[in-house]
Order: sequence, then structure tokens, then C-alpha cells
Amino acid sequence: MKQRVLNVVGARPNFMKIAPLMVEYRKHPAHFDPVLVHTGQHYDDNMSQLFFDQLGLPKPDVYLGVGSGSHAEQTAKVMVELEKLMLKDRPDLVVVVGDVNSTMAGALVAAKLCVPLAHVEAGLRSHDRTMPEEVNRVVTDALSDYLFTTSEDARVNLLREGIDDGKIHFVGNVMIDTLLKLKAESLKSEIRQRLGLTGKYGFVTLHRPSNVDVRETFAEILSALDVIQKELVLAFPVHPRTKARLEEFGFWEEVSRWPNLKLIEPVGYLDSLCLMTGATVVLTDSGGVQEETTVLGTPCLTIRVNTERPVTVTEGTNTIVGASHARIVEEARKTIHGHGKRGRVPKYWDGRAAERIIEVLRQRK
Ligand code: UD1
Ligand code: UDP
Repeated sequence: MKQRVLNVVGARPNFMKIAPLMVEYRKHPAHFDPVLVHTGQHYDDNMSQLFFDQLGLPKPDVYLGVGSGSHAEQTAKVMVELEKLMLKDRPDLVVVVGDVNSTMAGALVAAKLCVPLAHVEAGLRSHDRTMPEEVNRVVTDALSDYLFTTSEDARVNLLREGIDDGKIHFVGNVMIDTLLKLKAESLKSEIRQRLGLTGKYGFVTLHRPSNVDVRETFAEILSALDVIQKELVLAFPVHPRTKARLEEFGFWEEVSRWPNLKLIEPVGYLDSLCLMTGATVVLTDSGGVQEETTVLGTPCLTIRVNTERPVTVTEGTNTIVGASHARIVEEARKTIHGHGKRGRVPKYWDGRAAERIIEVLRQRK
């Protein structure tokens, strides 16, 4: 049976996850007829188009153009548009990746239309329901027929929620498929020269609402970055949510005067990998960056109180430091003095996760 597979993406971290699958479908034209749908959750060129170009993604077959909004608005808009599309298109399978609002919206529409659903990156749990992504993960997994996991702990989480073991497939990490494919290419990036990063430097990304939407928390994190930038140059591509908060809270002017903190626009995937590879330390609250630094062997300090990706801590280079000034500075100093955490690459983070997923999907009756 040739399967028409509707692949739903919407936000920056979705693009590197779907890219290796799009390549694999094309290797099996007798089995798959893939359709790529971009919801438009992220729409700035440097949050979307740039990634399509650098990851070699095909132009989306359908662009829903939903844009920004509150959680309910954004989720609802994706659902309304996707439902129209699926009623017309009648796919045999819907594939969603990650944990953003577009992921959960795609899952809900598929489930209500009784279209089989696959979730790539299933079973991650921070066990923190105040995190919007955690709600998206729980809902998406509850509705999925195929749950593709990146680590063994994910299976345990899913079984605890009553999900049938037969639906769970430990396949590895598609994000790392993309990293391994493009690592050599990323090292040709001239971003370091452009930013004048000739010696040691750190790389910073922040965008979690719990960090940047709360004035006091954001101020505390920034005060730690202020201390660190006096000892280590920091490159900080600023996510649009974070930029808006820096301005709204009146922090932008002061922070942009700190001499060794380089506030820049969000960078493309290749520049991001290049910067992470050469960094002495990465300070982040990103999900994907915790995984990428583990594979690159770069010490990562996660500015959160928990992680849904514990394998990056138990096996990789990740340390959870919370949002306290003292701990962030203390751990950053360790890395500056050459005592950053080392680790190993988790099982199946080997560049072949998409291949394993396609193997499972090919067997569908
Ligand atoms: C979203 C995801 C988050 C993911 C992150 C990756 C949800 C609930 N959140 O968070 O899980 O880690 O993407 O980057 O799905 N904006 C722009 N231009 C854009 C996109 C957004 O200016 O292209 C601004 C808008 O003001 C918007 C805000 O950023 O309101 C937040 O965007 P949104 O997609 O709602 O959430 P993110 O914080 O990006
Ligand atoms: N990334 C990027 N440019 C940046 C910041 C991050 O290309 O300026 C990449 C990063 O390397 C990783 C992905 O974006 O591949 C992670 O996405 P993000 O942090 O937005 O979302 P999360 O993983 O937290 O959901």
C-alpha cells in the first residue's frame, strides 16, 4: 500500500527533526507519498525559511500561515486549517514531531478524524505541567498510534501513563541525524570571524516563558550573564520572544552596553552548530540544544530546574543549574577553568533514527 503521509511542522525546532524523514521517504517512492505542511507558527525568515534552505527541506506543499497568538488562539487556528486540509486530502497517516503547539494541534485533528498518528520524539517528560510543552507532549502521546522515542527513559514514562508497549519504538534521535549530516558543513561557517570570536567564548540561548516572561527571573539570569561576560565573551542570538521581553522590561539598553555580550539576531542552523562546537560552554534553556551539545561534547548548563531529556545529564555533557545567579556563575566558571562536564553519546544517537522510523512505517498494514 502506498501511504499518503501528512507531516506537520511549524516552529524552528521542528525543521531539523522532519528533514531526515523527508529524505528517507524519498528513498521509498513505492511506499510513501509525503506531504509537508508548515503551519506558520514561526514565520520570520531567520526562524523558518533559513532552515528550509540550510536543511535542504522541500518547499512546504501547504502553508497554513497561522502566525502568533495565545495558546488557545494558535492551537485553534492550526486545528481549523488542518482539519479543512485533512478532510480534503484524507491522508493515511499523520506525522508530528517535538512538542510545540503545532504538534499537539496536528495530533488532535488526526485523532478526531480517525487518521493514524505517529509522534516523533515521544515520551519526553519534565513532569512539570506549568511548561506548555509538557501539556503538548502528554496530549500528543495519549493520542498517538506510533510513538518513536529518543531514549529508554521515554518508554518508562509512556508505560506509566498507560500507553501500550506495542506502540512504542525506540529509534534514536532525528535531531542528531541532522546534526551528523551537517556538522562538517557547519564548520565552514564564518560566524565566529564575523563576531570577532578569536579566543574562548560561550554561547547563550534563552526563550522559555518561565525564564524570560517573569521579570525577576529574567533579571537574575541576566545578572549572572553580566558576571560571566566579564570573564568570557558570550554570543547570544536573541529569540523573538526574548527580544520582546528585554524591551518590555526595559533591560535592552543596559544589556546591549555590556562589552563582551554579543546580542545578535537568531542565527541559522549551520551557524548555531558552528558556535556550539567551538564554545567553551553553552548556557541555554532550549530542548534541542541540550541534545546537540551532548553529541558535540560541549559542556551545557541548562538554565531550568528540570529537563525532559535526562539522558543528556546522566550520559551527556548537560548540567541542570536552575535560574539562580550563584549556581549559573559557579558552573560557568568551572567550564572556563577547563573543568566542564564530559560525557558519551546516548544509544541510537547515530544518524540513523529516521531510517529506523521509516522501517517501522513501511511495515504498516
Ligand atoms: C515555541 C514553542 C516552544 C519552542 C520554541 C522554539 C509552543 C507552545 N512553544 O515557543 O516549545 O521551544 O517555539 O523556538 O509551541 N515571534 C516572532 N517571529 C516568529 C515567531 C514568533 O516575532 O517567527 C514572536 C511573536 O511575538 C510570538 C512570540 O515570538 O508571540 C512567541 O512565539 P510562539 O511560537 O508562540 O512561542 P515560542 O516562544 O517561539
Ligand atoms: N538554533 C538555531 N539558531 C539559534 C538558536 C537555536 O539554529 O539562534 C537551533 C539549535 O541549534 C537547535 C534548535 O534551534 O537545532 C533548537 O530550537 P529551539 O531552541 O528554538 O527550540 P527547543 O528545542 O527549545 O524546542
